[in-house]
Amino acid sequence: MATAKSSKSSKGSTVLEFDTDAIRRREKEVARETDEQILTRLQERFDILTDMTKAVKAGDIRAMIVSGPPGVGKSHNVEAVLQKDDLFNKLAERKPKFEIVKGAMSAIGLYGKLFEYSAKGNVVVFDDCDSILLEDLSLNILKGALDSSRRRFISWNTDSRILRSEGIPNRFEFCGSAIFITNIKFEHIKSKKLRDHLDALESRCHYIDLQMDTNREKILRIRQIVRGGMLDDRDNLSDIAKDEVVDFIADNQDRLRELSLRMVLKIADLRGGFPLNWQAMARTTCMRRA
Ligand SMILES: Nc1ncnc2c1ncn2[C@@H]1O[C@H](COP(=O)(O)OP(=O)(O)OP(=O)(O)O)[C@@H](O)[C@H]1O
Ligand SMILES: [Mg+2]
Repeated sequence: MATAKSSKSSKGSTVLEFDTDAIRRREKEVARETDEQILTRLQERFDILTDMTKAVKAGDIRAMIVSGPPGVGKSHNVEAVLQKDDLFNKLAERKPKFEIVKGAMSAIGLYGKLFEYSAKGNVVVFDDCDSILLEDLSLNILKGALDSSRRRFISWNTDSRILRSEGIPNRFEFCGSAIFITNIKFEHIKSKKLRDHLDALESRCHYIDLQMDTNREKILRIRQIVRGGMLDDRDNLSDIAKDEVVDFIADNQDRLRELSLRMVLKIADLRGGFPLNWQAMARTTCMRRA
């Protein structure tokens, strides 16, 4: 069963137009794997994400793209590594050497942010900032920032009052590193123009796809993370109640609005807050209409 749908933007061109044939092929491949093989594969990928994030922080890797479906733990994992590594700065009350930027960002905002984190050892994370991956000017700035030449200079070619007032030069060397976290699955994009753009970026970055396209993979991952202690800070949930939450998700996987760790948190909230009628509440608030 296909878990992703084609969706076109209002302009008729595509932003998230997935190649559903590729996804169906993937489902057939996953059907041949055992649960154990899937869990090992998923764990390996998240371990690689952790190691790569550490390498970005150490400056050994300049740029990385992390792609995957919503709510599987992309931001959580990257943030956990950067925060752990930055503990000394935090204790000394120094400005962190990394920033996680979320949401929309203009090209000039991007230029300013890269300047702010241009020193060696700094990391800037663009989390769900898809506008910068899809817009020409931003993409050209990124290409300069992430080029594979030894020294990377970025320029802003028009006079800008904003840059002047903030003391940002029209040209600087970017010695930091960058991480992009996105739901866009690069190889499933059909639009030629967008693909060319993203190919140029992909060629400059390490790319990790946290492949979890099928319901089966998502449910297995949910069980793995809950068993690993995701809900352990909830005093109002017994181990049995935690199992009930996961079982409810597995039983209703086709009707839930989303199959993700975020859904686990939502249903755990209801299980804890409304012990008598949490299932009815979850059916009303977390499910699509039959
Ligand atoms: N290993 C984990 N242990 C505990 N909680 C986790 C773990 N991974 C993710 N979570 C929690 O699950 C929720 C969803 O994770 P996260 O925000 O990282 O997803 P995401 O992949 O970045 O999703 P999106 O693409 O929508 O931004 C968050 O509340 C996060 O704290
Ligand atoms: Mg995220």
